[in-house]
Amino acid sequence: MQIAHPGLVDPEYYVPGLPVDHVARRYGIDPAEIAKLGSAENPFGASPKAVEAVTELLGSLHLYPSWTAEPLRRKIAEVSHYEPEQVVCGAGETEIISLIIRAFAEPGGRILMPGPCFPIYHLFAEAEGRVPVLAQAATDRATMALDVDGYIEHVTDETRIVFITNPHSPSGTWLTEDEVRRIIEAAPRALVVLDEAYVHYSDTPGYIHLARDYEHVAVLRTFSKAFGLAGLRIGFGVAPKPVIDALLAVKATWNMGQLQIAGGIAALDDHEHVERTVHTIVAGRAYVQDRFAEFDRFRMVPGSRSNFFLVEILDPDLDSTSVFNGLLERGVIVKDGSVSFRGLDKRFLRCDVNVKEHMDRLVAALADLP
Ligand SMILES: Cc1ncc(COP(=O)(O)O)c(C=O)c1O
Repeated sequence: MQIAHPGLVDPEYYVPGLPVDHVARRYGIDPAEIAKLGSAENPFGASPKAVEAVTELLGSLHLYPSWTAEPLRRKIAEVSHYEPEQVVCGAGETEIISLIIRAFAEPGGRILMPGPCFPIYHLFAEAEGRVPVLAQAATDRATMALDVDGYIEHVTDETRIVFITNPHSPSGTWLTEDEVRRIIEAAPRALVVLDEAYVHYSDTPGYIHLARDYEHVAVLRTFSKAFGLAGLRIGFGVAPKPVIDALLAVKATWNMGQLQIAGGIAALDDHEHVERTVHTIVAGRAYVQDRFAEFDRFRMVPGSRSNFFLVEILDPDLDSTSVFNGLLERGVIVKDGSVSFRGLDKRFLRCDVNVKEHMDRLVAALADLP
């Protein structure tokens, strides 16, 4: 029998955060009592303006959408100060990442990324026969911050794509604009991809303008986080037109449905929802940081500018899997670093920042572990 290409024999898949109903059933816990802190979702749900716009469009589902999601493209261009031809829309940022890997690295092409990083970068690269290079040594273990000079050392003439995530995942650490520019300028022969999925939580406008300053930069953003639309699947990239043209050529023709287009446009005007979300996350982050001062068996890795943070397990009798399972039994879902992130060992968990009540649940559950 003809089977898939060798890179797809026994493939590795993305490990998502566990859903509430699974944990409720398995441990007999009331779903209302569960703190879901493993998927970095919005604590307040979807943008109400997006929900309204999507609902109004239910009568138009027999119509094909614009293959470039043109109305959404125009709206994104307007709010980000680009031209519509400099924007590509996708089913979440995840789809844009897959398009970039296909269009900008040939089979065997090398793709540089920090280690650990968002796993889709290397999972998709491997599934498509490209070669991920995880720059593990460039991540400082105590701070989990990226050492920019160390990262730049991994750039070679063969590097086709360089990923930068800001704020980074899983650490939430932050690079200054000067640091990002240094990486961009060190890789003039590659496409440098700045992933700003969590930029709202940095409480800064981010660096979306950088794709105007360089011919080899794409900046990606998502509607899954601050807009609360993870289930609708909308992301976008801005880049110079030749970059976007290449992405459109490898894109599935109708990748965005009518509902995504309408929901995305409405969400971009929902400043109230975004502000409420960002305010809550920024306050929740400061709150949980203070609460972690109570622990001597666990340490919060400082410096997160995102809606999650890393917890280092200091107690040698515990590891990330035992703590992960102990938290599940107590109705708290986080991410086991060793399972969810290549290059993170058994000493780390990734936990979301969420409303105070859930932060208290996390702290109480950690304190309750034997
Ligand atoms: C760093 C990073 N980039 C991109 C994404 C993709 O988000 P989406 O495909 O939902 O837009 C995620 C999702 O968790 C992420 O953590």
